Amino acid sequence: MAMAKVGPGIAGGNNRQALTDEDAAGRTLFQKWCVAEGLEVSVDKMGNMFGRRPGQQNDLPPVMVGSHLDTQPTGGKFDGPLGVIAALEIIKSLNEADIKTKHPIEVVNWTNEEGCRFAPPTMSSGVFVGAYSLEWAYARQDGSGKNFGDELVRIGWAGDKEVGERPIAAFFELHIEQGPILEDTNTDIGVVTHGQGLHWWRIELNGKDAHSGSTPMHVRQNAGLGMAKIIVLVDEIAQSYTSQAVGTVGHVEFLPNATNIIPGKALCTIDFRSQHPEVLSKMDVALKKGAENIAEEHGLKISFELVGDLEPVIFDQKCVSSVRQAADRLGYSYRDLISGACHDAFWLSQVAPSAMVMCPCVGGLSHNEAEEITSYWASASANVLFHAVLETAGISD
Ligand code: HGY
Ligand code: MN
Ligand code: MN
Repeated sequence: MAMAKVGPGIAGGNNRQALTDEDAAGRTLFQKWCVAEGLEVSVDKMGNMFGRRPGQQNDLPPVMVGSHLDTQPTGGKFDGPLGVIAALEIIKSLNEADIKTKHPIEVVNWTNEEGCRFAPPTMSSGVFVGAYSLEWAYARQDGSGKNFGDELVRIGWAGDKEVGERPIAAFFELHIEQGPILEDTNTDIGVVTHGQGLHWWRIELNGKDAHSGSTPMHVRQNAGLGMAKIIVLVDEIAQSYTSQAVGTVGHVEFLPNATNIIPGKALCTIDFRSQHPEVLSKMDVALKKGAENIAEEHGLKISFELVGDLEPVIFDQKCVSSVRQAADRLGYSYRDLISGACHDAFWLSQVAPSAMVMCPCVGGLSHNEAEEITSYWASASANVLFHAVLETAGISD
C-alpha cells in the first residue's frame, strides 16, 4: 500500500507508467526496501532492477522471483507490484528465519512490462532473453515521440549491467489473475500451466481532410468511418473464435479530431490473444483481408505494423508442480489456470524453468483503478510463492 501511494491515479488506483518520474520514485522506494533487507541491488541497461541475496553456493545460478512496478495510466495497485513486493516478503521471511538457501535468490523489477507507453509489453524481459536488441528497445517511441532510451537516462535508471546473458536456475512470478475464474470458483491459488500468446497491430488509415458540411457523402475519403468499421471487424473476428481467442481495439485516434472536418487520418491498435498460434495467424489473415476491403471501399490508404508478438507459453512442469504441491501442502484451494494476460514470466520461460502463481482479484477486474485483492489472497499466494522458491533454491545444510 506504501507503493500504491507513489504515482496515484485519479480514482484510487495508480498511474505509474514506465520511465515517468513516478516510475523513478517507485524504483527508489523499492531499492530502499531491498537495501533494508541486505540485498545487493544492481541495475542493467534496460533499467531492470535485481536485488540479490547470496546463497551458500554463490556460484550457482540464482533463483529469480519478481514482476513489474510500472502500471497502466488508469491501473490498479496490485497488477505487478504484488509480485515484486511478495518477492521482497520472501527475502524478509528468510532473513527473519535466518534461512540460508543453496542458490542465490534475486528479486527483480522488470522495466516496462505494461507496454502501454512504449510498445511492446514485457519489453525489458524480452531484451533480457535476447528477443529484442538493446538498440531496438532504446529506439521505441511513446505517443509524444519520446525515445525509450532517452527517457530511461532522463529518470536516472539506465544501469551499467549488460542485459541478460547470464544463467538463471528458475524464475517465479506471482500475479493477480486479472480475470474472474479464481473468484468465481472460490479458489485461492491459480497454478498457471500456460499463457496466451498475443499479436498487437497498429493500423493507420489515410484518406482526406475535407469540410463536413459542404462535401457530398459519395466523394468522401473518411478515415474515421473506415476505422469504425475496422473496430467492428476486430470484434467479429474474435467472436468467431469464441473461447479460443479475444480481440480488442483499445486505442483510436482520429485526426485532425475536429467537429467539422472529415477525419482524413485514423490510427488504432489491435490486441489479439489466443493460446493457439494457428488461431492468432488466422485472425491476422482475416484482419488484413477485411481491413483492406474496408480501405478500398472508402478510398483509403492502409498500413499495418506488428508492434507486439508473444508466443503462447507452456510453463516448466517441475516448477509448476512445485507451485501446485506448495498450495496443496499449505491447505489452500487451487486449480490449474491459463494466463489470459501476458507477463514477464512468458519470456523468462524461454531461458529458464519458470512458473507463475496467481491469486484472485475482486470481480476479476484489472487495468482499472478499482482493482482490489484481499489480504488473505495476498498472503496465501505469497506463501505458495515462498515455498516454491524455497524448494527450488534449496536450503543449505
Ligand atoms: O497486456 C497484458 O496482458 C499485460 O497486463 N501487460
Ligand atoms: Mn502485470
Ligand atoms: Mn497489466
